[in-house]
Amino acid sequence: MRIIQTKTVLETRRLRLRTMNELDAPFLHKIFQDQEVMKYYPSLKDEKQTIEWIAWNKKNERMYHTSMWIIENLETKEPLGQSGIVLQNIEGQTELEIGYMLKRAAWGHGYATEAAKGCLTYGFDEMKVRRMVSLIRPENEASVKVALKMGMKKEKTISKWDQTIDVYSVTRERENGSLEH
Ligand SMILES: CC(C)(COP(=O)(O)OP(=O)(O)OC[C@H]1O[C@@H](n2cnc3c(N)ncnc32)[C@H](O)[C@@H]1OP(=O)(O)O)[C@@H](O)C(=O)NCCC(=O)NCCS
Repeated sequence: MRIIQTKTVLETRRLRLRTMNELDAPFLHKIFQDQEVMKYYPSLKDEKQTIEWIAWNKKNERMYHTSMWIIENLETKEPLGQSGIVLQNIEGQTELEIGYMLKRAAWGHGYATEAAKGCLTYGFDEMKVRRMVSLIRPENEASVKVALKMGMKKEKTISKWDQTIDVYSVTRERENGSLEH
């Protein structure tokens, strides 16, 4: 029998963020096939790409001890989406990005903000990083709001993935004392 291991990375008031594994494939695939959720991404992800996504996150977890994590409702254990911290190349520099994506049924409850703030605290307090970013398409208003609520500010506009992307960032100094959980 194969044992699938997951690790709780962090908890917030209503959420648990845990490492992902192959059993999350059907849940993630459903999200990756939702046109509304994927509106600001270059394309949907099929089953094979979903498996690759999980493998990529497992590799990140092994190599860098950080990745996108599954967001669960702490009380009911219902999976709500994914959020986490991943390495991104921004104009030749390696940066740590906070990412977030929820299934549509979970939108509008403040879960993305709560998960993202949890990641921010985890990055600053546990990973001891000084700066984190979020890469956002300018039209993605909900995502911009989550970034602003984390205390991030728009820093610059870049070209990445053949798209115009705004870089939002926050440094430990500016974040100190300004978080509300
Ligand atoms: C971005 C996303 C995670 C936000 O999830 P959410 O749970 O609705 O976010 P929250 O409830 O924490 O809301 C954050 C803010 O955005 C606002 N918001 C939510 N949807 C919005 C929309 N479509 N347009 C404008 N504002 C929106 C909320 O009202 C809230 O602001 P408020 O507190 O001032 O009212 C969700 O829309 C999603 O999964 N989108 C698809 C994936 C994606 O684009 N991820 C980001 C890639 S950079």
